[in-house]
Amino acid sequence: MKVYHILTQYFWTIIFVLHWNLITPQSDSKDLLLTVEEKATLDEFKSQVIPILPEDYMKSDFYLVRWLRARAFDIPAAKTMLLDTMKWRKANRIKSIMKENWSDMAIDFPVTFGSFDKVGRPVVTLEMGDWDFQAAVVTGKAQILNRYLTYIIERYVQSVFKAQAAGKNVTRVVTLVDVEGFNLRKHSCPQCISIMVRWTATTESYYPQFVKDTVIINAPTLIQVPLNAVKPFMGRETREQLHVFGTNKEQWMSFLDERIDRNQRTARYGGTKLKVE
Ligand SMILES: *[C@@H]1O[C@H](CO)[C@@H](O)[C@H](O)[C@H]1NC(C)=O
Ligand SMILES: *[C@@H]1O[C@H](CO)[C@@H](O)[C@H](O)[C@H]1NC(C)=O
Repeated sequence: MKVYHILTQYFWTIIFVLHWNLITPQSDSKDLLLTVEEKATLDEFKSQVIPILPEDYMKSDFYLVRWLRARAFDIPAAKTMLLDTMKWRKANRIKSIMKENWSDMAIDFPVTFGSFDKVGRPVVTLEMGDWDFQAAVVTGKAQILNRYLTYIIERYVQSVFKAQAAGKNVTRVVTLVDVEGFNLRKHSCPQCISIMVRWTATTESYYPQFVKDTVIINAPTLIQVPLNAVKPFMGRETREQLHVFGTNKEQWMSFLDERIDRNQRTARYGGTKLKVE
């Protein structure tokens, strides 16, 4: 409360903070600051939606403000987006997705969780160069792959809540994507593209504002084929936070070194961490 009192001495319109312990200059504090007007909008939004939200974590300011931000603080639009999400979650039994056994999919579509960037954001890595979308399509696994990709989002979103509960001042994850091994057959067949488009649209529609940066490394020029296909489905913020690096290791190393300590990156990402989770 002290911060608030100090600030009110100097400004007419002052920033409200969702969680007082979350203001640190280097964290995702911009996600957590609200003007008086935005705070009033959030309170009104909460009074309308809280009674219909099925899970407790959804009732927090931390969760709810995202929908308002994604819809420029327009309550009806944010409410539509949130309710569409609840409908989608129910129809697809998303709540149980974390309990399903993904060990087979994780072998063919490797991903890691459990690292953190310098300010404590969870880092999720996707070894997408190894992912053979086309093989999944031809072996009839497209549906299960779609669900696995949703599981990945759900898991990293939950990692944000976990990091926050552990006292880290963060609201988003960083995704690190290594596309070494990319080729058009594996990654750009028409059905492969439609799986990627669907994944992108799922992220934008149902998990707004949970990703800080997406960093792609070892990208060949042909990456533009799938990238151009999915870009129209990305929101402006997502496109702005996309960083694509080629195979010049020096370039992506310096970018990563600024953001993620080497002991939080496996050798594949130029770090010293042994493989985990
Ligand atoms: C998950 O599935 C794999 C392979 O199908 C199996 O070996 C493993 O025991 C299963 N894990 C659990 C927790 O059921
Ligand atoms: C989070 O912010 C609080 C208050 O500014 C600070 O005391 C705490 O050390 C921060 N935690 C981390 C993990 O940075």
